Amino acid sequence: MGQIALSNVSKAYYTSRKKDEARIVLKDVNIDIEKGEFVSLIGPSGCGKTTMLNLIAGFEGPTLGEVRFNGNPIEGTSPERGVVFQEFSLLPWFSVLSNINLALECKNVPEKERSAISMKALETVGMENFADYRPNLLSGGMKQRVAIARLLAMDSEVFLMDEPFSALDEQTRAKLDNDIVRIWKEKRKTVVFVTHSIDEALLVSTRIILLSKSPGEVIKEWKLDEKLNRDPMSYDMIKIKKEILALMPTCSCSN
Ligand SMILES: Nc1ncnc2c1ncn2[C@@H]1O[C@H](COP(=O)(O)OP(=O)(O)OP(=O)(O)O)[C@@H](O)[C@H]1O
Ligand SMILES: [Mg+2]
Repeated sequence: MGQIALSNVSKAYYTSRKKDEARIVLKDVNIDIEKGEFVSLIGPSGCGKTTMLNLIAGFEGPTLGEVRFNGNPIEGTSPERGVVFQEFSLLPWFSVLSNINLALECKNVPEKERSAISMKALETVGMENFADYRPNLLSGGMKQRVAIARLLAMDSEVFLMDEPFSALDEQTRAKLDNDIVRIWKEKRKTVVFVTHSIDEALLVSTRIILLSKSPGEVIKEWKLDEKLNRDPMSYDMIKIKKEILALMPTCSCSN
């Protein structure tokens, strides 16, 4: 069993309009993720990618099946499994440094140790000169760097990233993609990364998992050796991209 294991996982929601009618959003999903993998989840809008991250984060539980972390059923959130959301998620009335210190406080790190740990994490993402800034003075890319630094400071084993760079312009996104790969190579964290961009998934991942339209099921997955040439024009990248495009379902929105 991998570090993260989803076994026969289904998830249903009951909508307020039709109380007795369950809406199945994930169906019989089996995924094993080994420690240190960089896994991207791709699939049409509404297929259950965020739901899957929420299950791994422990924000909610599956309706059927089991989600395990290091062999134990996940029962609630834990700093071991940190999340970077698409929307910038810093507290606006605290400085960058205090935002990270606060996360360390929740993890019961002694007060006198917090700032040194937070500053080290900010250095890793190149944000050490902005420690005293309030989030509203930062660009979107900078805010996401701080969100990544927060997970680094918490020493999360797993980084759950839900379209973390999709609100950014192309150049900033490319820069952050390279940064997250650099940090992953340095720290060997497990990353579960949701993206709508096949190109981004091809650039960053060691495995890409394609989900069907709603209810989300695994259609196919591709392993990408770390040493593979990630040039988008290389033979391997074009080949995998074509395969993904051929299988990529259209939007789930009408379901
Ligand atoms: N708390 C909830 N209650 C009811 N339905 C929900 C809830 N959360 C998600 N859903 C539904 O579950 C389905 C999957 O949603 P989810 O957000 O996981 O999709 P997604 O693949 O992340 O989509 P996108 O790519 O647009 O972000 C959607 O139809 C959504 O409406
Ligand atoms: Mg989503």
